[in-house]
Amino acid sequence: MCGIVGYVGGQQAAPLLLEGLGRLEHRGYDSAGIAVLSTSKGLKVAKKAGRVRDLEAEMPKRFSGKIGIGHTRWATHGPANDVNAHPHVDAAGEVAVVHNGIIDNAAALRAELTGAGVELVSDTDTEVIAHLVARSTADTLEGRVSEALGRIEGTYGLAVLHAGFPDRIVVARNGSPLIIGVGDKEMHVASDLAALVRYTTTVVHLGDGEMATLTAGGYTTYREDLVATDRAAKKLDIDPASYDAGDHDSFMHKEMLEQPEAVERVLRGRLDERFGTSHLGGLNMDARDLRAVRRVKILGCGSAYYVGQMGAQLIEELARVPADAEAASEFRYRNPIVEPDTLYVAVSQSGETVDTLLAVQEIHRKGGRCIGLVNVVGSAIARECDGGIYLHAGPEVAVASTKALTTMYVGFALLALQLGRVRDLSIADGKRLVAGLQRLSGDLEKVLALEDELVDVAKRLSQAESMFFVGRVRGYPVAREGAQKLKEVTYRHAEAYQTSELKHGPLALIDKTVPTVAIVPEDELADRNVGALHEIAARGGPLVVITHPNVDLGDVADRVLRIDVPRNEVELDPILLTVPLQLLAYHAALHLERDIDKPRNLAKSVTVE
Ligand code: G6P
Repeated sequence: MCGIVGYVGGQQAAPLLLEGLGRLEHRGYDSAGIAVLSTSKGLKVAKKAGRVRDLEAEMPKRFSGKIGIGHTRWATHGPANDVNAHPHVDAAGEVAVVHNGIIDNAAALRAELTGAGVELVSDTDTEVIAHLVARSTADTLEGRVSEALGRIEGTYGLAVLHAGFPDRIVVARNGSPLIIGVGDKEMHVASDLAALVRYTTTVVHLGDGEMATLTAGGYTTYREDLVATDRAAKKLDIDPASYDAGDHDSFMHKEMLEQPEAVERVLRGRLDERFGTSHLGGLNMDARDLRAVRRVKILGCGSAYYVGQMGAQLIEELARVPADAEAASEFRYRNPIVEPDTLYVAVSQSGETVDTLLAVQEIHRKGGRCIGLVNVVGSAIARECDGGIYLHAGPEVAVASTKALTTMYVGFALLALQLGRVRDLSIADGKRLVAGLQRLSGDLEKVLALEDELVDVAKRLSQAESMFFVGRVRGYPVAREGAQKLKEVTYRHAEAYQTSELKHGPLALIDKTVPTVAIVPEDELADRNVGALHEIAARGGPLVVITHPNVDLGDVADRVLRIDVPRNEVELDPILLTVPLQLLAYHAALHLERDIDKPRNLAKSVTVE
């Protein structure tokens, strides 16, 4: 989605802004632009549809200024072209604005401005902000931006430059992330930490309804009515190198291989071997609260939704509490019934996915309790929730989620353990699960070692225009996630089905051009699964089976990938079986020379509806 960067200090702004925009590329975008300000030359803007490198290639030679703002745009109002790219300026070319989010009353404001004789040049909602700031007569830039914001309804993270106030950037946040980076005699701002960490790890997370002024000397924060908020800066304990792909050809590859350590981090200090349960201080729920939960409802989008389905099964199995997952993007549109004894769980890597955030707000509006399984500390969803489990996966840059998803699964296992142990899950079963979780990191390491074996199969799959991923019960959400990964990074059509449902429709599509990837765990359904695979084989459909060492497949499959690790607990099958599917999608995309980390049309965190 759209990204924002800004800089004020002693260095030339343009190269820093371009570098920062490059670091936001993974968020997904279709055009980019920057504006710089110098006391002698005034405001200059360069913007272009396409990649940051296209903008860089066409930058005018003289583009000097030690203060500036930049943006990557993901088109919402109007097509992706040079004119609609940000920054947007007012008629006199004095004010420049970059904006993330959506202005709901843009149409009315556009009509009002046009009526007042203002010529709007773009199709965007953002342009109105530049004109509103320019038309304000307040004494200060802060006053002008505040006045403009008073007219706006919607969500925003924004940054404003004004030629009449050349020492400052004024920024504001409402529903769209904005982080200030505090440097030495220089200040940065960005919508994502990825664009800041190379310069500073001392940051200020702005709250909703908050504004800030950045000058080379420092920052001040205040509310939109200009009353000071004095928000303090925090030194983050993060390694800037985690935002670099290092020796890997892509972040996706790096992040897949980081899964064993991510699992260790999400488990650290949380397993209780003695009582076969987990410690989750951040849940803010005691045994009595947990006991009062009659139902669990999980909400997330994309991969977070699929892992939510895996989590719901875990909770039902271990705690025997009815649980299900729903796409957060649908939830609030069906006037959901929110019950006081249901525990709602929002799952999100970024903590900024607007559909998930709005679902949490709907739950709160109706008096429900919602906890979060969130990776990004201090993100909007984490703050909105009543408690939760931080995932500690580390920064995830690739659009396709891998390590965050794995930590989400572990988060659900920890939650299921606790919900189970305050009910009928025996101490022996609790201990069994605790031991299984302790082995998980090592097991993942072994599954990842299958990579070389997978390359050929991945190449073959990459040649199919369309394919199925099938699984049953525990294997079904795995199939859904496998199909999702493949679609995202290869642009091939992949559809997930319950193996048991094949004969009720999709079997009609099976022929030698349509492969099926089947998930067949060694469990009570293995024989039935194999039976269904014969129906595929009988129709000439190529079959790739992901399974355990002891499942007898006869000669039904064309390719069999066995995750050859000592059998862990069945409850942990889904996550161990998901990892080979990540590798398959990755190698298929690599073979097709796709832009693996930045698939077309997709964004890392979707901050607009
Ligand atoms: C986008 C990404 C998906 C991701 C989903 C949820 O659609 O492309 O990969 O799973 O958002 O993101 P979240 O940050 O809420 O987990």
